Amino acid sequence: MFTEEKQRELIQKTKQLLDITIDQIKTIDDAKAIIDDLREVIRYHDWRYYVLANPVISDYEYDKLFHLLKKIEQKFPELITPDSPTQRVASGLTKEFPQVKHLAPMLSLDNSYNEEDLRDFDRRVKEATGFETVEYSVEPKFDGAGISLVYEDNLFIRGATRGDGIVGEDITNNLKTIKTIPLSADFKSYGIKKIEIRGEVLIRKDLFKKINQERLEEGLPPFANPRNAAAGSIRLQDPKEVAKRGLEAFVYQITYAVDPEGNNLLGTKIKKHNESIRILYELGFRSPFKEIKVCRGIDEVIDYCRQWQEKRDEYPYELDGMVVKVNDIALYEKLGVTSHHPRWAIAFKFKARQATTRIIKVVFQVGRTGAVTPVAKLEPVEIGGVTVSSVSLINEDFIKEKDIRIGDLVLIERAGDVIPYVVKVITEARTGKEKPIEFPKNCPSCGSPLVKPPGEAVWRCVNINCPAQVVERMIYFASKDAMDIRGLGEAIVRKFYELGYLKSIPDIYRLPYEKIKKLEGWGEKSVENLKKAVEESKHRPINRLITGLGIRYVGKVTAKTLAEHIRCVEDLEKWSVEELESLPDIGYVVARSIYDFFHNEQNINMIKELKSLGVQTCKEKEEKVQHIFDGKTFVFTGALKCCSREVAQEIVERLGGHATNSVSRKTSYVVVGENPGSKFRKAQQLGVKTINEEQFIQMIKDHIPEDLKEHINI
Ligand code: IVH
Repeated sequence: MFTEEKQRELIQKTKQLLDITIDQIKTIDDAKAIIDDLREVIRYHDWRYYVLANPVISDYEYDKLFHLLKKIEQKFPELITPDSPTQRVASGLTKEFPQVKHLAPMLSLDNSYNEEDLRDFDRRVKEATGFETVEYSVEPKFDGAGISLVYEDNLFIRGATRGDGIVGEDITNNLKTIKTIPLSADFKSYGIKKIEIRGEVLIRKDLFKKINQERLEEGLPPFANPRNAAAGSIRLQDPKEVAKRGLEAFVYQITYAVDPEGNNLLGTKIKKHNESIRILYELGFRSPFKEIKVCRGIDEVIDYCRQWQEKRDEYPYELDGMVVKVNDIALYEKLGVTSHHPRWAIAFKFKARQATTRIIKVVFQVGRTGAVTPVAKLEPVEIGGVTVSSVSLINEDFIKEKDIRIGDLVLIERAGDVIPYVVKVITEARTGKEKPIEFPKNCPSCGSPLVKPPGEAVWRCVNINCPAQVVERMIYFASKDAMDIRGLGEAIVRKFYELGYLKSIPDIYRLPYEKIKKLEGWGEKSVENLKKAVEESKHRPINRLITGLGIRYVGKVTAKTLAEHIRCVEDLEKWSVEELESLPDIGYVVARSIYDFFHNEQNINMIKELKSLGVQTCKEKEEKVQHIFDGKTFVFTGALKCCSREVAQEIVERLGGHATNSVSRKTSYVVVGENPGSKFRKAQQLGVKTINEEQFIQMIKDHIPEDLKEHINI
């Protein structure tokens, strides 16, 4: 933690350091004169950015400082220290992780599931301590991967996985890439020479979703839940890869702390658990400082646990419960531990998002890219308020690895808003009648032989005319992310396909409306609405059309990038793989896929056909496009009344502006809705202009693109 005064000093230093260039550092003495300040300033900005989520300098300025430090260290390697911010991404691959013994055993927690369990726990604590009312601290139970961190003489010297609780794996280099773990911290100011801290590595839920989306697009199996993603990531062999995963760490327990004479400080100098959490926070760690509550007596504990159970879905990280700890650390010894858990703490588990049920059969679904996914049909079961009746078995390897068979009783999990997933087979419940799952050799839709390219985990049908793929492609074309044709959802597309009204994407623009009118459930009005939606989709911006084409690896982000560099979709027929690769964030695999798509005659003909049916394949003529926001950057924070944030952002982009998610000095306007977040504060700090929703509406109201009008309420 940095005091107000210290912060002012560091901001002053930041300004001075930003003026220094590497050419000015000629001798080692020049370097020595600034290197400590530079490191301190970088650590301070890391803390503002990662711990407070409230940075005071732009990314550009941060990079400049970081780059300067790197250059100085390259010039004078003897000045490199292990806690330098540059040492976060270690190079070199580790083959396997060495084993290390924890300073204190990493015990687990006893679980409680209801009020009664908590009252029993309270009774036991009262009996053992003789207290009438016990003070507890209550904090979230983070559902990630457990870690331990050791600091000695203020330096982060070792980080480990839990392992068997006694011995874990040394993953120091990987943990060094996580910016919420300080590489050094001033423990000495608390009289601490050596300390071991426990915590959890996590991935934010929204980032987790994004990672999975990308994995699916790359044909990789998705992670089941944020916990698995975090656990898998900290054990990656290459720290550089770890650094890309966006991991964060919370610390929540000091398990060992000694002074220079080797005296234990827990319960003597560090007396209360909530104090230890505050100390960790002040030293720059992410700890549940804001979430922790000190409760007098079990009634307050129960109340606080209930409150969190209610809001668990709003929290950005996955939680599986609350942890209730006796606040007085001196009582830990009196209460003792079992071989499994301490008697001074208990987990209050939230309602399980797991359930067991039986696999009735397995079907094989063909996706729009031809990937064949095994899907288990289940005896319906309720998990966290949702009925689950089928679950993806991901791919053949997953089935083999878990030895899943038809008729098996399986444990299903549904974490947050994540798709359900098979955790394990309850092998004890097997009767011997379970049948192995036979993976088909031929496409279940068109019968063509399936292929599995080397190195890939997924079997594919490569027949571009395969009916299942055709239907999936049409569904995707009409979906919200692509051409957004309201009223042409999945069920309707399937129905029209069965009736022979839809055989290919262009058929969407020659639907037999007279026949549709006569179908059951359809009337004059609904057909009119469908017709209108189909007509309107002809004038969508071309990035939506590119998305809708369903080119492998090209989602809406890549489609936008492509659209920014062309005038007409057909232009892409002339681009080489190298040219495509030169675009931002497009690598060889994606470039090759785009190239192949635009060198396939059927695809070219489809685009021609769409064009002849009136679908706009070129950007609107310049004079038609409004450019009122040319060169302007907008950031939205808080909820808008008029429309969703996506629609507001789309309007900004269509009017020539840029909508981004982070505020910097270059931001032109921050639009502040209801309950704004930290971006509002940041805008004020940086002196960026803020406007309210009304002012924003005033700016756009005469320029809203036709097709977006129905999505906005003003
Ligand atoms: S305290 C011996 N506090 O939950 C007590 N653990 O299911 C040390 N966990 O092994 C643990 N959030 O990995 C504690 N706020 C929290 C926690 C927490 C998550 C994990 C921890 C533990 C597991 C038990």
